[in-house]
Amino acid sequence: MERTFLMVKPDGVQRGLIGRIVSRFEDKGFKLVAGKFVQMTDEQAKRHYAEHEGKPFFDELVSFITSGPVFAMVWEGEDVIELARVIMGKTKVKEALPGTIRGDFAAVTPHNLIHGADSPESAARELANFFNEAELVSYSKTI
Ligand code: CMP
Repeated sequence: MERTFLMVKPDGVQRGLIGRIVSRFEDKGFKLVAGKFVQMTDEQAKRHYAEHEGKPFFDELVSFITSGPVFAMVWEGEDVIELARVIMGKTKVKEALPGTIRGDFAAVTPHNLIHGADSPESAARELANFFNEAELVSYSKTI
């Protein structure tokens, strides 16, 4: 079963959107297998966004993501990496369609509420930056 790493960014936490964001993935049938608040350090943020190092918005991005707690999550399900990104909507809020999380709730691009891993490699690397295996739960197949 595929796993992905998602996190509600500081703007989503401060706006009280965790519940509604979590619901979108539960409604789709995905399983939340880990979740916790994290106040990211600069080092953890730079590791998380390593692929963006050197881009003009990198410093702003690190400063935004460390500006308050994030809600880090691991989700499980078939094709969850790709489908989670469909549910999130496009990174640029002007391109995010209604019905997606960003299309419905976000108005300014860096403050786009949620991050989602974009490949199996990123999912594994990002997950390991926040969680260890012991923190992930298994769902019963009989309930
Ligand atoms: P995220 O999915 O977390 O991955 C990288 C983030 O960089 C992205 O969401 C945006 O929040 C941010 N980002 C991308 N492009 C820009 C930009 N042009 N200016 C500021 N932030 C950006």
